[in-house]
Amino acid sequence: MHTRKALQQQFEQALKAQNFPADPPELYEPFSYILGLGGKRLRPVLVLMGCDLFGGDIEEAIDPALALELFHNFTLIHDDIMDEAPIRRGQPTVHKQFNTNIAILSGDVMLVYAYRYISKLKPPVLQQVLAVFHDTAIKVCEGQQYDMNFEQREDVSIAEYLDMISLKTAVLLAGALKIGAYTGGADESDAQRLYDFGKHLGLAFQLQDDLLDTYGESGDFGKQVGGDIIQNKKTFLWLKALELADEAQRAVLVQWSSAQEFDPAEKVKAVKAVYNALDIKSLTGELMQEHYGMALAALDEI
Ligand code: IPE
Ligand code: IPE
Ligand code: MG
Ligand code: MG
Ligand code: MG
Repeated sequence: MHTRKALQQQFEQALKAQNFPADPPELYEPFSYILGLGGKRLRPVLVLMGCDLFGGDIEEAIDPALALELFHNFTLIHDDIMDEAPIRRGQPTVHKQFNTNIAILSGDVMLVYAYRYISKLKPPVLQQVLAVFHDTAIKVCEGQQYDMNFEQREDVSIAEYLDMISLKTAVLLAGALKIGAYTGGADESDAQRLYDFGKHLGLAFQLQDDLLDTYGESGDFGKQVGGDIIQNKKTFLWLKALELADEAQRAVLVQWSSAQEFDPAEKVKAVKAVYNALDIKSLTGELMQEHYGMALAALDEI
């Protein structure tokens, strides 16, 4: 078994060795820009780990790992346009650094490159991986649309929120592991168990992302802290606060979510004060731990 660090390094080297075209620069510069800003490389490492777990050859999992990292970066570029996010990985987002049209098309072609890497696999693994990739990519888009729809809704339930983050985030971690498992020769039931592990891990991961969006340090987080509050995202933090709020706290939340013109820093401060009063940080941490526990239980089944 290889360590996470070794797999991460192996992936990083493979990524560096890729030669994306130079022309037209508007289309391809965002590739080197966003990929060069790093990121945790979580999804490609999960592909490699999935393969490793079943004794597969890591080299054979590099192409699907590249595909997943490109797919992930494509979703980030488009997500940042949709979320009006100014900063990603500590630097201006692609649509801010270049412009929105460039971010749209460059993201689109990144998705096509992701497919090209997957197409290098050989049957029957190719068909297995494609089926997971299609299912995952469709779900991510569905989740992303729910996430956007929820900005306008005040009656979102926590169950709906969990379904939404399962689609927009968790299935990609789960899919990465399942794709890795197939390249490593896993059978259907083990691949599915690894998928279930990834699903719970992904739910915990998005809860942590939501937590950091309010409580992170902008330097480490690499994104605008408070962005979710500014955009009226229906995160677990928001929904739990709304559920537990007394009348005065509820009035604060409702007033800020319906405000049309506001000072973003003031809004973040006011909403965060309600979260603090209700100890939302600990409650989010508890749910995160619950899903982490369920993830480990699924892993034990293998
Ligand atoms: C960001 O993913 C998008 C979410 C699903 C929260 P990551 O936090 O894995 O982003 P990078 O790739 O490490 O920058
Ligand atoms: C990420 O959700 C899900 C995607 C499909 C990209 P977020 O909007 O919370 O991701 P960040 O916080 O911008 O990375
Ligand atoms: Mg988003
Ligand atoms: Mg976002
Ligand atoms: Mg986020």
